[in-house]
Amino acid sequence: MTTRILIVAVLALPVATQTLWAQHDAAPAAPAYKNLTVLKDVPADQIGPAMQFMATSLGVECAFCHTPGKMEADDKGAKKTAREMITMTAAINKEHFGGRPQITCNSCHRGSERPVAIPGVMEADAAPKPPAPAAPAAGAAAPTVDQILEKYVSALGGTDALKKVTTRQMTGKILTGGSETPVDVTTKAPNMRVTVTHSNSDSFTAFDGKAGWMGNTGRPARSMSESESASSSLDAEFHLGLRLKELYPQIRRGRPETVAGVLCDTLNGTAPGKPAIRLYFDRGTGLLVRMVRYAETPLGRMPTQIDYSDYRETDGVKTPFRWTLSRPNGRFTIQISSLKNNTPIDDAKFAKPAGDVK
Ligand code: HEC
Ligand code: HEC
Repeated sequence: MTTRILIVAVLALPVATQTLWAQHDAAPAAPAYKNLTVLKDVPADQIGPAMQFMATSLGVECAFCHTPGKMEADDKGAKKTAREMITMTAAINKEHFGGRPQITCNSCHRGSERPVAIPGVMEADAAPKPPAPAAPAAGAAAPTVDQILEKYVSALGGTDALKKVTTRQMTGKILTGGSETPVDVTTKAPNMRVTVTHSNSDSFTAFDGKAGWMGNTGRPARSMSESESASSSLDAEFHLGLRLKELYPQIRRGRPETVAGVLCDTLNGTAPGKPAIRLYFDRGTGLLVRMVRYAETPLGRMPTQIDYSDYRETDGVKTPFRWTLSRPNGRFTIQISSLKNNTPIDDAKFAKPAGDVK
């Protein structure tokens, strides 16, 4: 929520934003950046996400606006234009949308350098219209949040069975663009998780119950930013179905939608300090088939979509053996081949190493 206020305030209220961030835990220690003007009041750890948001919205690399190694230089016309565009976008939102960040770079650019003003013509015969999704039976009341969650929990095996499992070790492969890499995923209730990818060196992505970290063998681990950590903590939730209402007290039902041809009930959650989420539950099986979470950046929201499939039962509890994580700039799939529940696992396994990652 703070970020939302920030977006609006980026230009209009620099003093107020400063105060806002001064009160916020994430306030930058000492700004390392040399030449910020329109984003000068943005916390240091939000500059990277803002840059990625611009690059993604325009479908360009950093070098479109920057000379690599000289990010602070104003030597490219596109960087100057981008500054004007940031100012313009904030002004549109302020004047026309009550300050809500409705218009972003992506609203106009949609992945291209130049927005297209003129509608395109049809370049092929119109495809036949797909049949409309079957309407729910007349009179059938839409399920409530509680009903959706109860159905999900019972589809997984029920509260009692779920609570009996408190650790899980999974082994499988991570599939990206035609290549396969072995991966181990270890999780422990309530919310610890470490994923290790074994390629030339081992690469770690972990959440220790409080904060996230990443690292590679032989190098020091790095702490995740506050927003990366918040997303990572959600992935680490061992009993997400049982904890959702606690994590997102404001969770609400959304419109039903289809995912890969399957009608799904949806829930939307927002909570301070947590990424906004949208969850899709297969109306037939009750299982969670998709989660989309949104990382707030100073210029707009970045989505991460996770599609879950291949649910299999082990010790009376169903878990997805396959999931695909998609972002605007990348995508990978994890396919689990073996899974073991309730092996004792020390908390130290999830802790950020003090020195180099081993
Ligand atoms: C569409 C243009 C655009 C793209 C693409 C872009 N930037 Fe920027 N970048 C800017 C602008 C504009 C500023 C200055 C913002 C200001 O004046 O407050 C900036 C500032 C920066 C700064 C601060 C430099 C300093 O010390 O003042 C860094 C670091 C940076 N960008 C990194 C990146 C990276 C990394 C990428 C690729 C992920 C990237 N940028 C992509 C436009 C862009
Ligand atoms: C209301 C629509 C709109 C929004 C919002 C918008 N742009 Fe643009 N942008 C345009 C148009 C139109 C052009 C092309 C102008 C021209 O051709 O002279 C453009 C051009 C640009 C260019 C120059 C591209 C080139 O090829 O040199 C950059 C860089 C750019 N925009 C960055 C951004 C960034 C970054 C944001 C978000 C902060 C943004 N724009 C938001 C409409 C928009």
